[in-house]
Amino acid sequence: MDKFVVRGGNPLLGTVRISGAKNSALPCMAAAILTEDEVILENVPQVRDIETERKLLASMGAEVELGYGRAQHRTHIRCAILSDPVAKYEIVKTMRASSLVLGPLIARTGLARVAMPGGCAIGGRPIDLHIKYLEKMGAQITQDHGYLEARTERLKGAHIIWEKISVTGTEDLLMAAVLADGETVMENCAREPEVTDLAALLTAMGAKIQGAGTSTITVQGVAKLHGARHRINPDRIEAGTFIIAGAITGGDLKVSGCDPSHLGALLETLRSCGVRFDINGDTIRVRSEGTLKAADITTVEYPGFPTDMQAQYMALATQAEGTSVITENIFENRFMHVQELIRMGANIRIDGRTATVRGKTPLSAAAVMCSDLRASASLVLAALVADGETILDRVYHIDRGYEHIEEKLRGVGAQIRRMGEVFGKK
Ligand code: EPZ
Repeated sequence: MDKFVVRGGNPLLGTVRISGAKNSALPCMAAAILTEDEVILENVPQVRDIETERKLLASMGAEVELGYGRAQHRTHIRCAILSDPVAKYEIVKTMRASSLVLGPLIARTGLARVAMPGGCAIGGRPIDLHIKYLEKMGAQITQDHGYLEARTERLKGAHIIWEKISVTGTEDLLMAAVLADGETVMENCAREPEVTDLAALLTAMGAKIQGAGTSTITVQGVAKLHGARHRINPDRIEAGTFIIAGAITGGDLKVSGCDPSHLGALLETLRSCGVRFDINGDTIRVRSEGTLKAADITTVEYPGFPTDMQAQYMALATQAEGTSVITENIFENRFMHVQELIRMGANIRIDGRTATVRGKTPLSAAAVMCSDLRASASLVLAALVADGETILDRVYHIDRGYEHIEEKLRGVGAQIRRMGEVFGKK
């Protein structure tokens, strides 16, 4: 079980480059199922979830080549023959986002067997709405032995009004609609940049989509899609994580290769905390001189404050003067980092979906346990300012969504090293 060892106290100085967005690359890889031609994706991050998706597609009969080394961050996918359109539990249990293959599989082959994704640390994560709206498009879906089985002659366009805003739900149904017979109108869609990125790839493949990035998406189904080459968006959550790393350590950090237009709500909150930004194209320079001021946040769907930045913001709030009230509206159990932060000296009280952070409290190094992807990031941020050497266990959680985070942090002055096996190195 690999661990990180982090010695706190160094301000981060220099430039860190942001990788492609895991949560864009995952649906875009699934979109390759929709054509027998080759799909080439650039700027794919080297993270564990991408490797898992590669195995999933290959297990169904796809040819998937992940370019590391020379052709780094590029993947070639060809789903000419899908000999076994089954998303097996052994893979799905390690990554819930595997359910993203449900829509494209039904649309392409008329048949799909997908293991029901279990919950995860942050919540139950049901996909009941994915199922409900695929049935509305004509899929017959049964559940047995932990698998969903979906069949259809050909999906039909439908008018869908999402009862809840769902990111992968919007993506799954969008991929189902592009090959359906007729028009599909979806209202109350997710507006996340990852949805827009997927729509850009689908359009390049010949799909007819309007309104991606807004609450209403309209799709005219087509008979076939062809291959395409597409560059994945920068990862806005990785960028936000490094922005907070620069702020919490009182550094002077340039975060490059990002898209500042995806970070509006976070930057607005951090400005109110006294963090200074200079934005120049795809680079955000972060400086925080002196004390940080407390500020409240409430997580909501994009373009509001992202739930995937809540844990990282909480680490910063422990170093801000005053009381910060953090409300988590998206997931029912996304405070797994709180007890670990308290063990490092933070003053946090949870009441249902609200955590109240009283700062500034000095943090001291401790042995801590990572529980999920963003909670792990929060603990790394806390360790960067803790007094002494923090040991973080189960860092495989962080490897799911951050590319070589310890190398990137070391490159801007952090004292961090990994113990045990190293993911991504042969
Ligand atoms: C996506 O998860 C992201 N994952 C999550 O990122 C992110 O936290 C989340 O969106 C919210 O932004 C990927 O894109 C791979 P939802 P997703 O469906 O799509 C409820 C990370 O850290 N819901 O938007 O699974 C659900 O329970 C991960 O990278 C239903 O009730 O989230 C939740 O309360 C963590 N029924 C809310 O909707 C459904 O059928 C929003 O979930 C679907 C969702």
